[in-house]
Amino acid sequence: MRIIDFRSDTVTKPSPEMWNKLKTLDNSNLGDDVEGEDPTVNELERKAAKLVGKEAAILASSGTQGNLISLLSQTSPGDEILIEERSHIYKWEVGGAARLGGLMVRTFPSNKGSFIPSKLQPLIRHKDIHEPVTSLICLENTHNDHGGIALPISLFKETESFANKNNLKIHLDGARIFNAAVALNQPVTEFTKFVDSVQFCLSKGLSCPIGSILAGSSEMINKARKFRKMVGGGMRQAGIIAAMPLVALESKWIARLAEDQKNAFRLYEGLLDSGLKINVQKPDTNILMVGFPENAPMSKIIELLNNDGIKTHDTDQRIRFVTHYGLNEDDVDYSIEIILKTFKKFFDSF
Ligand SMILES: Cc1ncc(COP(=O)(O)O)c(C=O)c1O
Repeated sequence: MRIIDFRSDTVTKPSPEMWNKLKTLDNSNLGDDVEGEDPTVNELERKAAKLVGKEAAILASSGTQGNLISLLSQTSPGDEILIEERSHIYKWEVGGAARLGGLMVRTFPSNKGSFIPSKLQPLIRHKDIHEPVTSLICLENTHNDHGGIALPISLFKETESFANKNNLKIHLDGARIFNAAVALNQPVTEFTKFVDSVQFCLSKGLSCPIGSILAGSSEMINKARKFRKMVGGGMRQAGIIAAMPLVALESKWIARLAEDQKNAFRLYEGLLDSGLKINVQKPDTNILMVGFPENAPMSKIIELLNNDGIKTHDTDQRIRFVTHYGLNEDDVDYSIEIILKTFKKFFDSF
């Protein structure tokens, strides 16, 4: 059976160019990265920092680790941090900020990821002797759980002035920041220049097998290096991991993300006028959310799709379809037919 995997862009495998790059390595390209001696990792960190306009960068094993070491480096235990209520750091990172950072996490709502930073003023605490210190605010772009929403530069600018006024650091969970940059046709630095730190994933739309980058000031990255060691992320001959991302960070590979966006839109158009009780959210980038009625048994529809070769995940009465390097136009067209048939079968039986 033909299998189409829409679960995530994390399922992607490397391009032929990435494999070729890996094959060029020999021992002269490797060293002990805990000692700062791996030339391939060093090259990647330099290249990544430059790309997002920061002084320094560090290779982390995952997006979760990159976000965590950023928070640890820029806060003190007992601080409060502000996070949008459906952001990945709050929902899906095992509460690491609280458990490992000793942080109080205060959430705020948004309109599909967008909010007015100045309206968060009442959340800022530190003046009264009884209060913790609010020290950092997080942004997420694209916003995964709201459906891959590409948040505009204006939000970054407003967040920066709010943060300056209140002495807050800004961390950007930019797991998919390049998807946002491509969607809004802006250089990535137009977003990152407003934040103190940015984490972006190599192993999502950029299709590398492993890793994330955390970038920021040299001082912050030096601290993050120590925290990465603390959480067991100090790796040795990590050039093996860093080689493929050197190819992925080239501009033509980043520009390829537009294809994923086109395919998500193609899927959206294909599912739009089905006459079924679904809410198909117009995608900004490579994530398409399809909402189901409140009482619909989501595990059933996921199982039915899976039985028909369509792999997806659900969250909060929505199915999330993610397009990526592993899927082309033909896969999408084929899927539309199967998905509609399966949805119909589901609604007929429910
Ligand atoms: C927005 C966002 N941030 C962070 C992460 C964490 O990345 P990882 O799975 O590499 O830990 C993800 C993963 O899906 C994500 O979507």
